[in-house]
Amino acid sequence: MGSSFRAVTYRDGVLTLLDQTELPQRETYVELRKLEQVADAIERLVVRGAPAIGIAAAYGMAVAAREGVSPEVADARLRRTRPTAVNLFWALDRLKPAWSEGASTAELESIAQQIDAEDGAACRRMGEFGAELIPDGAGVLTHCNTGALATAEWGTALAAIRMAHEQGKRIRVYADETRPVLQGSRLTVWELMRDGIDVTLVPDGAAAHLMYEGAIDCAIVGADRIASNGDVANKIGTRGVACACRAHDRPFYVAAPWSTVDLSLPSGREIRIEERSPEEVTHIRGVAIAPEGAKVRNPAFDITPAEWIADLVTDRGRTGSPVGAGLQRLKNA
Ligand code: MRU
Repeated sequence: MGSSFRAVTYRDGVLTLLDQTELPQRETYVELRKLEQVADAIERLVVRGAPAIGIAAAYGMAVAAREGVSPEVADARLRRTRPTAVNLFWALDRLKPAWSEGASTAELESIAQQIDAEDGAACRRMGEFGAELIPDGAGVLTHCNTGALATAEWGTALAAIRMAHEQGKRIRVYADETRPVLQGSRLTVWELMRDGIDVTLVPDGAAAHLMYEGAIDCAIVGADRIASNGDVANKIGTRGVACACRAHDRPFYVAAPWSTVDLSLPSGREIRIEERSPEEVTHIRGVAIAPEGAKVRNPAFDITPAEWIADLVTDRGRTGSPVGAGLQRLKNA
Protein backbone atom coordinates (compact mmCIF):
# COMPACT_ATOMS: atom_id res chain seq x y z
CA MET A 1 0.00 0.00 0.00
CA GLY A 2 3.06 2.23 -0.24
CA SER A 3 3.00 4.91 -2.87
CA SER A 4 4.85 4.82 -6.16
CA PHE A 5 6.62 8.13 -5.56
CA ARG A 6 8.30 10.02 -2.76
CA ALA A 7 7.80 13.74 -2.26
CA VAL A 8 11.18 14.15 -0.55
CA THR A 9 14.39 12.14 -0.97
CA TYR A 10 17.97 12.87 0.01
CA ARG A 11 21.23 11.31 -1.10
CA ASP A 12 24.83 12.46 -0.92
CA GLY A 13 24.09 16.13 -0.29
CA VAL A 14 21.30 16.37 -2.88
CA LEU A 15 17.71 17.00 -1.78
CA THR A 16 15.28 15.84 -4.46
CA LEU A 17 11.70 17.11 -4.37
CA LEU A 18 8.75 16.11 -6.51
CA ASP A 19 7.74 19.57 -7.78
CA GLN A 20 4.15 19.87 -6.53
CA THR A 21 3.60 23.17 -8.34
CA GLU A 22 3.76 21.23 -11.63
CA LEU A 23 1.24 18.52 -10.73
CA PRO A 24 -0.92 17.09 -12.16
CA GLN A 25 0.36 18.07 -15.63
CA ARG A 26 3.99 17.06 -15.09
CA GLU A 27 5.73 14.72 -12.64
CA THR A 28 9.08 16.48 -12.42
CA TYR A 29 11.75 16.41 -9.76
CA VAL A 30 14.07 19.23 -8.70
CA GLU A 31 17.53 18.63 -7.22
CA LEU A 32 18.63 21.09 -4.55
CA ARG A 33 22.19 21.57 -3.29
CA LYS A 34 21.97 24.97 -1.53
CA LEU A 35 20.18 26.28 1.55
CA GLU A 36 18.56 29.11 -0.41
CA GLN A 37 17.12 26.66 -2.96
CA VAL A 38 15.56 24.60 -0.15
CA ALA A 39 14.06 27.67 1.57
CA ASP A 40 12.68 28.93 -1.74
CA ALA A 41 11.15 25.52 -2.54
CA ILE A 42 9.34 25.48 0.82
CA GLU A 43 8.05 29.04 0.29
CA ARG A 44 6.82 28.34 -3.26
CA LEU A 45 5.05 25.08 -2.25
CA VAL A 46 7.31 22.89 -4.39
CA VAL A 47 7.17 20.83 -1.20
CA ARG A 48 4.22 21.37 1.14
CA GLY A 49 2.14 19.66 3.80
CA ALA A 50 3.23 19.93 7.43
CA PRO A 51 5.23 16.68 7.83
CA ALA A 52 6.93 17.01 4.40
CA ILE A 53 7.93 20.60 5.19
CA GLY A 54 9.58 19.38 8.41
CA ILE A 55 11.42 16.59 6.59
CA ALA A 56 12.59 18.92 3.79
CA ALA A 57 13.81 21.47 6.35
CA ALA A 58 15.72 18.75 8.23
CA TYR A 59 17.53 17.74 5.04
CA GLY A 60 17.90 21.45 4.26
CA MET A 61 20.06 21.77 7.38
CA ALA A 62 22.30 18.95 6.09
CA VAL A 63 22.50 20.66 2.68
CA ALA A 64 23.48 23.92 4.41
CA ALA A 65 26.15 22.17 6.49
CA ARG A 66 27.76 20.77 3.33
CA GLU A 67 27.59 24.24 1.79
CA GLY A 68 29.54 25.70 4.71
CA VAL A 69 26.72 27.91 6.04
CA SER A 70 26.60 28.46 9.83
CA PRO A 71 23.92 26.70 11.91
CA GLU A 72 22.47 30.07 12.97
CA VAL A 73 22.07 31.33 9.41
CA ALA A 74 20.59 28.06 8.13
CA ASP A 75 18.17 27.75 11.05
CA ALA A 76 17.03 31.39 10.79
CA ARG A 77 16.49 31.19 7.02
CA LEU A 78 14.43 27.99 7.19
CA ARG A 79 12.38 29.30 10.14
CA ARG A 80 11.33 32.29 8.01
CA THR A 81 9.81 30.14 5.23
CA ARG A 82 6.35 29.27 6.52
CA PRO A 83 4.97 30.15 9.96
CA THR A 84 2.00 27.84 10.60
CA ALA A 85 3.09 24.19 10.28
CA VAL A 86 4.83 23.40 13.55
CA ASN A 87 6.63 20.39 12.05
CA LEU A 88 9.10 22.84 10.48
CA PHE A 89 10.11 24.26 13.89
CA TRP A 90 9.97 20.83 15.52
CA ALA A 91 12.49 19.50 12.97
CA LEU A 92 14.79 22.53 13.28
CA ASP A 93 14.66 22.22 17.08
CA ARG A 94 16.20 18.77 16.66
CA LEU A 95 18.86 19.73 14.10
CA LYS A 96 20.03 23.15 15.25
CA PRO A 97 21.21 22.27 18.81
CA ALA A 98 23.03 19.17 17.53
CA TRP A 99 24.79 21.20 14.84
CA SER A 100 25.66 24.04 17.25
CA GLU A 101 27.16 21.47 19.62
CA GLY A 102 29.48 20.22 16.88
CA ALA A 103 27.56 17.42 15.11
CA SER A 104 29.22 16.45 11.83
CA THR A 105 27.40 16.66 8.50
CA ALA A 106 27.01 12.88 8.55
CA GLU A 107 25.41 13.11 12.01
CA LEU A 108 23.02 15.83 10.81
CA GLU A 109 22.10 13.67 7.82
CA SER A 110 21.40 10.80 10.14
CA ILE A 111 19.08 12.93 12.35
CA ALA A 112 17.21 14.08 9.23
CA GLN A 113 16.89 10.47 8.03
CA GLN A 114 15.54 9.54 11.44
CA ILE A 115 12.88 12.29 11.23
CA ASP A 116 11.95 10.99 7.76
CA ALA A 117 11.71 7.37 8.96
CA GLU A 118 9.74 8.33 12.08
CA ASP A 119 7.18 10.10 9.90
CA GLY A 120 6.85 7.04 7.68
CA ALA A 121 6.11 4.88 10.72
CA ALA A 122 3.68 7.50 12.08
CA CYS A 123 1.77 7.43 8.77
CA ARG A 124 1.26 3.68 9.04
CA ARG A 125 0.04 3.92 12.63
CA MET A 126 -2.36 6.77 11.77
CA GLY A 127 -3.65 4.62 8.92
CA GLU A 128 -4.46 1.80 11.30
CA PHE A 129 -6.06 3.98 14.02
CA GLY A 130 -7.85 6.20 11.51
CA ALA A 131 -9.38 3.41 9.39
CA GLU A 132 -11.42 2.34 12.45
CA LEU A 133 -13.42 5.56 12.07
CA ILE A 134 -14.40 4.93 8.46
CA PRO A 135 -17.32 2.51 8.01
CA ASP A 136 -17.83 0.26 5.00
CA GLY A 137 -19.81 2.05 2.32
CA ALA A 138 -19.09 5.53 3.68
CA GLY A 139 -18.87 8.75 1.68
CA VAL A 140 -15.81 10.53 3.09
CA LEU A 141 -15.03 14.18 2.51
CA THR A 142 -11.43 15.41 2.66
CA HIS A 143 -9.89 18.83 2.23
CA CYS A 144 -6.45 19.89 0.93
CA ASN A 145 -3.83 17.15 0.40
CA THR A 146 -2.79 14.95 3.28
CA GLY A 147 -1.27 12.07 1.37
CA ALA A 148 2.13 10.76 0.36
CA LEU A 149 2.84 14.15 -1.21
CA ALA A 150 2.53 15.77 2.22
CA THR A 151 4.40 13.20 4.31
CA ALA A 152 7.12 10.55 4.19
CA GLU A 153 4.75 7.73 3.19
CA TRP A 154 0.99 7.12 3.24
CA GLY A 155 -0.15 10.44 4.60
CA THR A 156 -2.29 11.43 7.58
CA ALA A 157 -6.01 11.67 6.76
CA LEU A 158 -5.28 9.93 3.45
CA ALA A 159 -3.50 7.13 5.35
CA ALA A 160 -6.79 6.41 7.14
CA ILE A 161 -8.61 6.46 3.80
CA ARG A 162 -5.95 4.25 2.14
CA MET A 163 -6.06 1.74 4.99
CA ALA A 164 -9.89 1.60 4.97
CA HIS A 165 -9.72 0.91 1.21
CA GLU A 166 -7.01 -1.71 1.76
CA GLN A 167 -9.25 -3.41 4.33
CA GLY A 168 -11.84 -3.88 1.59
CA LYS A 169 -14.24 -1.18 2.76
CA ARG A 170 -16.14 0.24 -0.20
CA ILE A 171 -15.62 3.93 0.40
CA ARG A 172 -16.32 6.92 -1.80
CA VAL A 173 -13.96 9.83 -1.28
CA TYR A 174 -15.05 13.40 -2.03
CA ALA A 175 -12.07 15.73 -2.47
CA ASP A 176 -12.64 19.45 -2.01
CA GLU A 177 -10.77 21.31 -4.75
CA THR A 178 -9.22 23.51 -1.99
CA ARG A 179 -9.00 27.01 -3.37
CA PRO A 180 -6.87 28.98 -3.95
CA VAL A 181 -3.90 26.69 -4.63
CA LEU A 182 -6.02 23.62 -5.46
CA GLN A 183 -4.16 21.03 -3.40
CA GLY A 184 -7.36 18.94 -3.50
CA SER A 185 -7.92 18.83 -7.25
CA ARG A 186 -4.29 18.88 -8.33
CA LEU A 187 -2.77 16.63 -5.68
CA THR A 188 -5.34 14.56 -3.73
CA VAL A 189 -7.29 13.49 -6.78
CA TRP A 190 -4.01 12.67 -8.58
CA GLU A 191 -2.81 10.53 -5.66
CA LEU A 192 -6.08 8.66 -5.08
CA MET A 193 -6.68 7.96 -8.77
CA ARG A 194 -3.18 6.47 -9.00
CA ASP A 195 -4.06 4.19 -6.09
CA GLY A 196 -7.37 3.12 -7.64
CA ILE A 197 -9.44 4.65 -4.82
CA ASP A 198 -12.89 5.94 -5.78
CA VAL A 199 -12.58 9.73 -5.65
CA THR A 200 -14.89 12.51 -6.80
CA LEU A 201 -13.65 16.07 -7.11
CA VAL A 202 -16.05 18.70 -5.76
CA PRO A 203 -15.91 22.51 -5.63
CA ASP A 204 -15.32 23.69 -2.06
CA GLY A 205 -18.79 25.19 -1.94
CA ALA A 206 -20.48 21.86 -2.79
CA ALA A 207 -19.55 19.95 0.38
CA ALA A 208 -22.48 21.17 2.51
CA HIS A 209 -24.92 20.40 -0.29
CA LEU A 210 -23.56 16.85 -0.61
CA MET A 211 -24.09 16.39 3.14
CA TYR A 212 -27.67 17.62 2.73
CA GLU A 213 -28.13 15.13 -0.12
CA GLY A 214 -26.74 12.34 2.08
CA ALA A 215 -23.67 11.53 -0.03
CA ILE A 216 -21.14 12.43 2.68
CA ASP A 217 -21.13 10.53 5.99
CA CYS A 218 -18.02 12.00 7.62
CA ALA A 219 -15.05 14.29 6.96
CA ILE A 220 -11.39 13.66 7.72
CA VAL A 221 -8.64 16.25 7.28
CA GLY A 222 -5.04 16.83 8.36
CA ALA A 223 -3.49 19.54 10.54
CA ASP A 224 -0.63 22.01 10.48
CA ARG A 225 -0.59 22.73 14.20
CA ILE A 226 -2.66 21.47 17.10
CA ALA A 227 -2.80 23.54 20.31
CA SER A 228 -2.90 21.86 23.72
CA ASN A 229 -6.67 22.39 24.07
CA GLY A 230 -7.18 20.51 20.79
CA ASP A 231 -7.86 23.49 18.49
CA VAL A 232 -6.56 22.68 15.02
CA ALA A 233 -4.96 24.88 12.36
CA ASN A 234 -5.35 23.44 8.88
CA LYS A 235 -5.75 24.58 5.28
CA ILE A 236 -8.14 27.47 4.74
CA GLY A 237 -11.65 26.12 4.31
CA THR A 238 -11.29 23.43 6.98
CA ARG A 239 -13.32 25.44 9.48
CA GLY A 240 -16.12 25.69 6.92
CA VAL A 241 -16.05 21.90 6.46
CA ALA A 242 -16.30 21.46 10.24
CA CYS A 243 -19.24 23.92 10.37
CA ALA A 244 -21.03 21.98 7.64
CA CYS A 245 -20.44 18.73 9.53
CA ARG A 246 -21.96 20.22 12.70
CA ALA A 247 -24.96 21.57 10.83
CA HIS A 248 -25.62 18.19 9.19
CA ASP A 249 -24.73 16.06 12.20
CA ARG A 250 -21.75 14.32 10.53
CA PRO A 251 -18.56 13.50 12.46
CA PHE A 252 -15.55 15.68 11.66
CA TYR A 253 -12.18 13.94 12.19
CA VAL A 254 -8.58 15.15 12.13
CA ALA A 255 -5.46 13.01 11.62
CA ALA A 256 -1.93 14.24 12.36
CA PRO A 257 1.35 12.87 13.71
CA TRP A 258 2.45 13.85 17.20
CA SER A 259 5.05 16.17 15.58
CA THR A 260 2.11 18.44 14.64
CA VAL A 261 1.00 18.84 18.27
CA ASP A 262 2.24 22.07 19.89
CA LEU A 263 1.58 21.75 23.62
CA SER A 264 3.30 25.10 24.23
CA LEU A 265 0.22 26.92 22.89
CA PRO A 266 -2.89 27.00 25.08
CA SER A 267 -5.34 27.44 22.19
CA GLY A 268 -5.72 28.04 18.47
CA ARG A 269 -5.81 31.81 19.09
CA GLU A 270 -2.03 31.74 19.58
CA ILE A 271 -1.33 29.99 16.25
CA ARG A 272 0.15 32.30 13.63
CA ILE A 273 -1.78 32.09 10.38
CA GLU A 274 0.26 32.52 7.21
CA GLU A 275 -1.03 35.14 4.76
CA ARG A 276 0.09 34.41 1.23
CA SER A 277 0.37 36.43 -1.94
CA PRO A 278 -2.85 37.97 -3.42
CA GLU A 279 -1.83 36.52 -6.79
CA GLU A 280 -2.78 33.05 -5.59
CA VAL A 281 -6.37 34.33 -5.46
CA THR A 282 -6.46 36.69 -8.44
CA HIS A 283 -4.67 34.39 -10.90
CA ILE A 284 -4.67 30.72 -11.85
CA ARG A 285 -1.41 29.68 -13.54
CA GLY A 286 -0.77 33.25 -14.69
CA VAL A 287 -4.32 33.90 -15.97
CA ALA A 288 -6.23 36.70 -14.21
CA ILE A 289 -9.59 35.64 -12.73
CA ALA A 290 -10.28 38.91 -10.88
CA PRO A 291 -10.22 42.57 -11.95
CA GLU A 292 -6.80 44.18 -11.73
CA GLY A 293 -6.41 46.03 -8.44
CA ALA A 294 -9.05 43.93 -6.60
CA LYS A 295 -8.63 43.99 -2.80
CA VAL A 296 -7.69 40.51 -1.59
CA ARG A 297 -7.24 38.58 1.66
CA ASN A 298 -5.43 35.26 1.39
CA PRO A 299 -5.09 33.52 4.77
CA ALA A 300 -3.61 30.09 4.06
CA PHE A 301 -4.99 28.38 7.18
CA ASP A 302 -7.87 28.60 9.62
CA ILE A 303 -8.65 27.35 13.11
CA THR A 304 -11.22 24.70 13.95
CA PRO A 305 -12.18 24.63 17.65
CA ALA A 306 -11.62 21.39 19.54
CA GLU A 307 -15.34 21.12 20.42
CA TRP A 308 -16.19 20.63 16.74
CA ILE A 309 -13.82 17.66 16.36
CA ALA A 310 -15.34 14.23 16.99
CA ASP A 311 -11.95 12.50 17.18
CA LEU A 312 -8.28 13.23 16.53
CA VAL A 313 -6.14 10.41 15.15
CA THR A 314 -2.43 10.50 16.03
CA ASP A 315 0.32 7.92 15.70
CA ARG A 316 -0.04 7.42 19.49
CA GLY A 317 -3.73 6.56 19.20
CA ARG A 318 -6.99 8.48 19.09
CA THR A 319 -7.84 11.25 21.51
CA GLY A 320 -11.59 10.72 21.43
CA SER A 321 -13.64 13.70 22.52
CA PRO A 322 -12.90 16.08 24.20
CA VAL A 323 -9.72 16.30 22.13
CA GLY A 324 -7.76 18.45 24.62
CA ALA A 325 -8.16 15.88 27.43
CA GLY A 326 -7.19 13.11 25.01
CA LEU A 327 -4.00 14.97 24.07
CA GLN A 328 -3.05 15.18 27.74
CA ARG A 329 -3.64 11.45 28.09
CA LEU A 330 -1.51 10.64 25.01
CA LYS A 331 1.24 13.11 25.98
CA ASN A 332 3.25 10.49 27.83
CA ALA A 333 2.18 7.49 25.75
O1 MRU B 1 -0.24 25.06 2.35
P1 MRU B 1 -0.04 23.57 2.44
O2 MRU B 1 -0.35 22.85 1.17
O3 MRU B 1 1.33 23.23 3.00
O4 MRU B 1 -1.11 23.11 3.52
C1 MRU B 1 -1.19 21.76 3.84
C2 MRU B 1 -2.30 21.43 4.75
O5 MRU B 1 -3.00 22.28 5.25
C3 MRU B 1 -2.47 19.98 5.11
O6 MRU B 1 -3.81 19.69 5.35
C4 MRU B 1 -1.67 19.69 6.40
O7 MRU B 1 -0.35 20.12 6.28
C5 MRU B 1 -1.69 18.27 6.76
S1 MRU B 1 -0.65 17.36 5.65
C6 MRU B 1 -0.45 15.81 6.13
